[in-house]
Amino acid sequence: MERAFSLPQRRRRKRCCQSSTRRRGIEDILIVSGHGKRAIEDHFDSAPTLEAELRKKKKFDLLAKIEETADIRIHYIRQRYMRGLGDAILCAKAFMGDEPFAVLLGDDVVYNPDNPALRQLIDVYENRGGSVLGCQEVAMSQVSSYGIVEGEQLDGRLMRVMDMVEKPLTEEAPSRLAVLGRYIISPKIFELLEHTAPGKGGEVQLTDALKVLAKEEAVYAYAFEGLRYDLGDKLGFLKATVEFALRRKDIGEHFRRYLRNMVETF
Ligand code: G1P
Repeated sequence: MERAFSLPQRRRRKRCCQSSTRRRGIEDILIVSGHGKRAIEDHFDSAPTLEAELRKKKKFDLLAKIEETADIRIHYIRQRYMRGLGDAILCAKAFMGDEPFAVLLGDDVVYNPDNPALRQLIDVYENRGGSVLGCQEVAMSQVSSYGIVEGEQLDGRLMRVMDMVEKPLTEEAPSRLAVLGRYIISPKIFELLEHTAPGKGGEVQLTDALKVLAKEEAVYAYAFEGLRYDLGDKLGFLKATVEFALRRKDIGEHFRRYLRNMVETF
């Protein structure tokens, strides 16, 4: 399944560096989706009937939840064929223009309520420029599922990327540092992607283009803080669903009791 989300950060670097407030967010979101994923567009669309009903019933808290996303401009583009993550990013070229942008892969979810993973990458970007890849170490048995980074340690969490390999065999992995679905990428990547031949799995790999980018511009790997879930994996999806539900103020406690009961009776 192709990753559904690619998220550009439509701000010039100058503006990006302007202030240190944490208020500024991402203003435009481009979702690169594919065949059969219209539900995503419907999810973020307005729902006039539902909104009118909630207003009538004075359910203003629920109404506010719907309106929460109303200020964000969401755009959509279709990747016609599943030609890989690199190709999906290339679909966004015209939209992005000549600006650095953020990419979030929809099946990598990170829990860090105090400092979201992308915010951490933006902080690195604002200090260093270049491109920044969100990474964490994975078990050696898992390296063949990820883009793996080889780099030069700069400080505790930061590396300068020297090389990368997409889904290496365990014995070929240069490290256990995996790229986990969060990136800030220089617009130079588009030109490189246009010349990137299909790689692993016959798909155009972002990793292959990033590897070339790292030879031409600074690319950093940042070991972000946060609990990461892999929604592309059945167990990962279940873990995320259960744990996020347990964290909720409204239903968390009930859900905890329900789970305890379930575990004992099953
Ligand atoms: C993609 C990337 C890979 C990255 C991973 C993160 O792989 O190609 O480099 O480490 O996302 O989840 P995919 O999961 O699409 O196979």
